[in-house]
Amino acid sequence: MNLAGKKILLGVSGGIAVYKSCELLRLLQKKGATVRVCMTDAATEFVAPLTFASLSKCPVYLKNGAVEARPFQHIDFPRWADLYLVVPATANVIGKFACGIADDPVSLCFMSCTCPRVIAPAMNVAMYNSPAVKRNLEILRGFEETTVLESPAGELACGEVGQGRLMEPAEIVAYLDDRRALTTNKFTEPAEVNVAEKGEGFPLASAAGASSATPSPVLSNAEASGGHPRNAPEPPAFPVAQDIDPTQDPSLPGHGKKVLLTAGRTEEAIDPVRYISNRSSGKTAVALASVFYANGFEVEVVAGPMEAAFPGGVAVSRVQSAREMHDAVMSRLESVDAVVHCAAVADYRPAHAADSKIKDSRSQLTIELVPNPNILRDCTAARASRATDAAGDARRQVIVGFALETDNFKQHAAEKLEKSGADALLLNAPVASDSGFGHDCVRYALVRPHAGIPEMHMGSKVDLAQEIVHFVLNELG
Ligand SMILES: Cc1cc2nc3c(=O)[nH]c(=O)nc-3n(C[C@H](O)[C@H](O)[C@H](O)COP(=O)(O)O)c2cc1C
Repeated sequence: MNLAGKKILLGVSGGIAVYKSCELLRLLQKKGATVRVCMTDAATEFVAPLTFASLSKCPVYLKNGAVEARPFQHIDFPRWADLYLVVPATANVIGKFACGIADDPVSLCFMSCTCPRVIAPAMNVAMYNSPAVKRNLEILRGFEETTVLESPAGELACGEVGQGRLMEPAEIVAYLDDRRALTTNKFTEPAEVNVAEKGEGFPLASAAGASSATPSPVLSNAEASGGHPRNAPEPPAFPVAQDIDPTQDPSLPGHGKKVLLTAGRTEEAIDPVRYISNRSSGKTAVALASVFYANGFEVEVVAGPMEAAFPGGVAVSRVQSAREMHDAVMSRLESVDAVVHCAAVADYRPAHAADSKIKDSRSQLTIELVPNPNILRDCTAARASRATDAAGDARRQVIVGFALETDNFKQHAAEKLEKSGADALLLNAPVASDSGFGHDCVRYALVRPHAGIPEMHMGSKVDLAQEIVHFVLNELG
């Protein structure tokens, strides 16, 4: 399907994968589609409607939407659309679709739309395998013009492994884009849609080039037999956001700004085969890099060893030890608008790394440790001396540190903030069975000078990243 010129209604319901809908929206726009959004109340708890309104350049259809919005959005929006995409689809909205309940914008649009519908479920594996969800998905597959996309198996946001992940946004676009995947479909205008109404809409939408004089072809007869279309190949695996470069988009708030991130852990050699390190997976840094990049920042990362991978478009320099990370950061410091010290840097290293493997002598071994350089403090000191050199005229640089604590959280955070001279500290408690190291959620609080220490709260690492990006943008003005 050629997505250029298509009008796509994106229904967003309240699962942890909501942030991926933002990426999907932009990918669709890059393909030339115009996108409008409706959201459930629960979805607005995960990502603010303002994000979707800004990206789509159109008011979002909400249950208690703004009074200035047109009163018949539940009919206008689906009628305007060539395609209704529900991403992510929660177990809850899937149940409503299947049973004919329409008490929120996403389920109302599902009921009133006459265009083809594509649903991407995302939920915990136990929910996905529950008899109710299985039955409801089966019912939806039997609906006319309704496609249920396969939920890939893998690591889920809750840390469990199994089926229920959201299909990657790039794969959803590839699926829609790939005509071969739609061999069973005809491209026709649904008879009940008044073509004259298509392309009409909110004044803001016209800025996004919504209207089209010629009727757009639409998908029809979506496959009813399963997650993938009949006789169709698996959707091709696309690298994420392959053809998008947000740094080139002047409408994004981070446009023209550069951020330096440290990521992962460091490894301090004991001998050629052993080292001292920690359990950081690098997931928080990946979330930070993704959110900064999506906001238009040029992102440079100095990364120690880590498991998580960075999105394309982010420049990554690899280091091993704290001293290497220190040197790499200090050499890049002057050219950046913000530095976020997310890496779990070893405070100490062995005083001497043995040249050859230390032999097992069956007797006690003592390793002398010496402190590593404090990268955060050296950055704030360098900023202070630049400001002095330039008689206070230096360009504003925002510095955010991380305080990883296991006890006495508030006291340690207050002390570290004062000693570090940072603009903010992200206090986090990464040692827990259900959150922190290796998980997608963590307990955290953003601590600012003279503002008291807030209580920590549980959130996804993407939430955490959004809070930091917001802070940096505010500080940069
Ligand atoms: C942190 C968190 C994450 C959640 N993630 C999901 C999810 O991925 N999929 C899902 O079906 N429900 C998820 N839920 C439950 C839904 O938010 C809940 O069922 C809600 O009522 C769905 O409302 P909606 O379908 O109207 O958006 C999650 C809840 C919380 C608190």
